[in-house]
Amino acid sequence: MTRPGAGWRTGPVLGIESSCDECSAAVLDGDRLLGHVIATQDAHAAFGGVVPEIAARAHLRQMDAVVAASLDRAGLGVSELAGVGVTAGPGLVGSLLVGVNWAKAFAFGRGLPLVGIHHMEAHLFANSIEDPSAGPPFVGLLVSGGHTLLVFAREWGRYELLGETRDDAAGEAFDKVARRLGLGWPGGPAIEREAASGTAGRFDLPRPMLDPGQDASDSSYLDFSFSGLKTAVALLAADLEEGGGPGALAAAVPDLAAEFQAAALDVLVHKTLRAVQITGCRRVLLGGGVARNGVLAERMRTALGTAGELFVPSPRLATDNGAMVARVAAWRLSRGERSGLGLNADPSLAFPGLTRTPGAHRAGAGSRRDARRSPVADTAPTR
Ligand code: KG4
Ligand code: ZN
Repeated sequence: MTRPGAGWRTGPVLGIESSCDECSAAVLDGDRLLGHVIATQDAHAAFGGVVPEIAARAHLRQMDAVVAASLDRAGLGVSELAGVGVTAGPGLVGSLLVGVNWAKAFAFGRGLPLVGIHHMEAHLFANSIEDPSAGPPFVGLLVSGGHTLLVFAREWGRYELLGETRDDAAGEAFDKVARRLGLGWPGGPAIEREAASGTAGRFDLPRPMLDPGQDASDSSYLDFSFSGLKTAVALLAADLEEGGGPGALAAAVPDLAAEFQAAALDVLVHKTLRAVQITGCRRVLLGGGVARNGVLAERMRTALGTAGELFVPSPRLATDNGAMVARVAAWRLSRGERSGLGLNADPSLAFPGLTRTPGAHRAGAGSRRDARRSPVADTAPTR
């Protein structure tokens, strides 16, 4: 069993994250997070989603200052760094390119070792920053705007894919449902807020693939699907508008949000529990932006019971951040791993060490990362 901690001491590592719309840098020394800066990009809200071109240009403007501020907060000079880690994928290619090229130039100029990091593996490491006992073996539920992955980690770097989404990611479903209900973007926090004052059960939404009725040895047994759930909300919203106009929909938003959230969480909790049963491993780690959802954590804790162990990252470490990148980088650098100057941004980078159970339906994990693009951006001319 590999535990994070003092064994990874490589000296202070700079972690850089720019895969989507958060421009972030962190300085991590062993278990100590010395400096951490996350610059968000408000410009996307007006478009109802991340506009890739705007994101890439914003990263270009933000990166120098974000790294400088993280070093400043750490109270360290550049010469005191021992290495650099940067998210190399998956993500929006323009955004990734800014971080990767910034990190390559910086590492080359300073003679520092550099390692490219997989964004979702970084989400898996986030818990271990706050609690070094959050290590393998564990069942990991990664729920972000671009991915929904259920993995079993025997040790760091060796992951078994138990389930993934066949269509929309969990966070993407929250975002799209929120947009249909007129709640703005990002949708996850808005849905959680509305749901708190609504009642689940007044509307009846499906729990897709909750129990596909297949044998647990079937490779699709723990897969997810959120697209039909999203469509079911859209149909209910349309019915309400037709029957009583926009006022009827507005009045129903809290109950619709509550039922949607209950349906999505039912599936996430149920499948995670099945994964616990199948693997016999009662330690569960949550990661990714949807792990900020307080009801998800609460329901997962109740479902696991006292015999289980649940790790949930604090809100700042659940959504995209540089600290989690620094954490994986420290581990990989301590093993002697290095990326050369040939390191490139890869929007569909394969999850390192992830093995898939053979199954015809399994698309590559990482293929849904572009899903947070706004519809405006999708139709905008590209250069
Ligand atoms: O991990 P993340 O910051 O970025 C990606 O890697 O995609 O996750 C962002 C996602 C968004 O879809 C956002 O709506 C969702 O996390 N999210 C939430 C909550 N806070 C953020 N979903 C549900 N409940 C929340 N409280
Ligand atoms: Zn993420």
